[in-house]
Amino acid sequence: MRKLIFVLFLLVGICACPAAGAQSESPTTQSKPSAMQSKSPATQSKSSTMKAKSSATQSKPAATADVRHWWQNAVFYEIYPRSFADSNNDGIGDLNGITSKLDYLHELGVDAIWITPFFPSPQVDFGYDVSDYENIDPIYGSLADFNQLQAAAQQRDIRVVLDLVLNHTSDQHQWFIDSRSSRNSKHRDWYIWRDGKGPNQPPNDWLSLFGGPAWTFDPKTNQYYYHFFYPQQPDLNWRNPAVKDAMFDVTHFWYDRGVAGFRLDAVDTLFEDPKLHDNPILPGKNAFGDANMEDQYNRNLPEIHEVLKGLRKIADKYDAVLIGETWTTNIDQLKNYYGANKDELELPMDFMFTMVDKLSPTEFRKQIAALNSAGGWPVYLIGNHDIERSYNRYGDGKHNDAIAKVMAGMYLTLRGTPIMYYGEEIGMQNNDPKTKAEVKDPKGKLGWPQDKGRDGERTPMQWNDKVNAGFSKTRPWLPVADNYRTHNVASELKDPNSILVFYHRLLELRHTTPALLEGDYVALNETDPNVMSYLRSYKDKAVLVVINMSAEPQQVRFDLAPQGFSASEAKTLLTTMSGMTGQIREMTLEPFSVYMGEVSR
Ligand code: GLC
Ligand code: CA
Repeated sequence: MRKLIFVLFLLVGICACPAAGAQSESPTTQSKPSAMQSKSPATQSKSSTMKAKSSATQSKPAATADVRHWWQNAVFYEIYPRSFADSNNDGIGDLNGITSKLDYLHELGVDAIWITPFFPSPQVDFGYDVSDYENIDPIYGSLADFNQLQAAAQQRDIRVVLDLVLNHTSDQHQWFIDSRSSRNSKHRDWYIWRDGKGPNQPPNDWLSLFGGPAWTFDPKTNQYYYHFFYPQQPDLNWRNPAVKDAMFDVTHFWYDRGVAGFRLDAVDTLFEDPKLHDNPILPGKNAFGDANMEDQYNRNLPEIHEVLKGLRKIADKYDAVLIGETWTTNIDQLKNYYGANKDELELPMDFMFTMVDKLSPTEFRKQIAALNSAGGWPVYLIGNHDIERSYNRYGDGKHNDAIAKVMAGMYLTLRGTPIMYYGEEIGMQNNDPKTKAEVKDPKGKLGWPQDKGRDGERTPMQWNDKVNAGFSKTRPWLPVADNYRTHNVASELKDPNSILVFYHRLLELRHTTPALLEGDYVALNETDPNVMSYLRSYKDKAVLVVINMSAEPQQVRFDLAPQGFSASEAKTLLTTMSGMTGQIREMTLEPFSVYMGEVSR
């Protein structure tokens, strides 16, 4: 397959043509841990540019502003293990399935995978209800399979990041089983137990994000326990130091097995107001029929930051990265997650960017500028396992493939770390359940039909146009999306105009172009409502990115003299348009098109 892609690049003769010697200029990716330093034959046979990337990883970082941490130049890729690849044909994806696809990811240009939870779990929330943090659920494999995955990933220079569910456990976790057994049990205070306000009255008005009250009564001990998510996901009591110690130990357990970091699940809900003040009620009702509510007293409490600092101290010992599931409503909140002394999360996700739900250069520029002003290293994503796929959210129903390239062309060339979502690179679409009976995600049952749950964005990866899209020989746990016949890995690899080949070229360019890794972001033509354009400027070179986000042809003009680039012509690096030259003084752009060219001082 590696050869096939290489031949494809040669045949197509497209413009993914990084400047010779680009690597030697780049002060990139110098801080890999020693475990990553021995290179396997698999890594050696990667294209020459990738080899250069690997060899740049050998030395330790010097303390200069220029030096990048590995996670700053890495492309991350989220894998939902149930749906990626099924090795034992039981209809559910598994760890060996992931291992079998590492060559695919390596070829694509993925540097790190974040795997959503595969720990033992009753699977009420499909793994986000963990009953043992230091093992593997048998449906996904064993610790031996994990070790094999980790080693195989390392051979390909791919790091493995796990998902750490700190806020809650499963109600089947030994801690909770003990906690609910009596008021005097050892783990009683590991969770949040309170008396009701009166008969059949929960302690306060807090609501679960997934519908209904956030309190469940347990007759055994005549108290309520608190759960921000499903009742089967009781919240841990982070005010108890024993909880912190136990969870910090969990991180050691996995770091010692070679993992490169964690994505921290639902960090904003770790703490609650100990006085249990009622939350303010807002007008209207949500999909579950509950009153809308402002989570003033059970979300984003300042105590979170002490926990993050503690986790970061451990992570730093392993050169590991902490990514945050950080839902925020303003940039100051997001800024806080980096830590006042940059001693908390390295990569807090910016969902304000993700949730821009229209192809609007004006909106994207606004979010990018805000994020850059926060002073941390930006992280960008356009989809994940909780939100409708980007293919549908941005697609207009007619030009979805072109729009998928438009979105990739933007977020994969911004200054920051991108996190891809599996299947995005082939244009996977949402496949929402058609009837309530089909729904697997409990919140989709409760919220039907207004909230159909998250099954739609979690369907099996589309590997080929054969039965079950090549995901499994058995009927998969969720139905494959209809577009698998055209949108699948095997078919797209053969089509030079496919979304997948575009991703390949783009990621190759990103890995080999210092300006795309290191360069500043300079917004251009900022009042243009249709065309998003910017420079990524580094030393004496810059990449000009021009993206037509509209369904009409557009004319744009660039004078880059104020930015120090007087040339009127760019060297084309990558474009979705045929016959496009680099005459930047006046360019005519096709609808939904992408142009990238290099300018020199
Ligand atoms: C996060 C996860 C989501 C899960 C929830 C509860 O939001 O991304 O999938 O349901 O936490 O763990
Ligand atoms: Ca399986």
